[in-house]
Amino acid sequence: MYFIANWKMYGDLKSIKSLNKVIKFTRLNKRKKFKIIYCPPYTLLDSFSKKIKKTKIELGAQNCHFEISNGPFTGSISPTMLKKIGSNYVIIGHSENRSTGETNAEVNKKIKSSIKSNLKVIFCIGETLIEKRKKLTNKILYKQILKGLYKIKNLNKILVAYEPIWSIGTGVIPKIDDLDKNVTFIKNVLKKHLKVKNPKVLYGGSVNPKNVENLVSIKAIDGFLVGGASQKAKNFIDIVKKTII
Ligand code: 13P
Repeated sequence: MYFIANWKMYGDLKSIKSLNKVIKFTRLNKRKKFKIIYCPPYTLLDSFSKKIKKTKIELGAQNCHFEISNGPFTGSISPTMLKKIGSNYVIIGHSENRSTGETNAEVNKKIKSSIKSNLKVIFCIGETLIEKRKKLTNKILYKQILKGLYKIKNLNKILVAYEPIWSIGTGVIPKIDDLDKNVTFIKNVLKKHLKVKNPKVLYGGSVNPKNVENLVSIKAIDGFLVGGASQKAKNFIDIVKKTII
């Protein structure tokens, strides 16, 4: 099971305290099978990277530029830069970036460069509330998957994160049956259309220590991408505990 902390635009150097608690938790639970990945803002990657050395925790970034190494792109960070600072993962296609104009084609370019830079990709997809109401969820997910992963070879380096947009930061999670169907649909698309043998699909959107008990009943889910609840160590640890212990 994967537990990914997406801190979004939150956190400063004091936040290291929260990471320390989670490091302690992973040391106490060495034998249990789970993977924790921290995706703090760029400004904290270096200090987090130093802290997690010799721990089971891995580091990820929240986005990157599609240019693989360097270029005249003011304000951007490349996949190579992320790798050099100790990131092994990068989140790409988060709806918060898609909503400000990131297209499926850009997502695809970013994924290609990230994989070339030896990063693993947390590839986010999900429908809006209007699309859900119009029963377009499968169509949207299908399009996002096929366009986002177009001509990508190392699909075993991709973790898909299904994040229904209407569930992010709202406290609302999908009905268990619906979520089960959507995750299974995503896995089937990956298997049938892209020949991924063992696809990994995570769920994200308002995951907290309370609702995670219901969410884990869905066998097809391989982990969680956690926003708000990942910032407090206790909440994040409780989510892990309730899933794997
Ligand atoms: P919340 O857990 O705060 O709803 O955020 C989910 C998310 O967007 C993770 O990427």
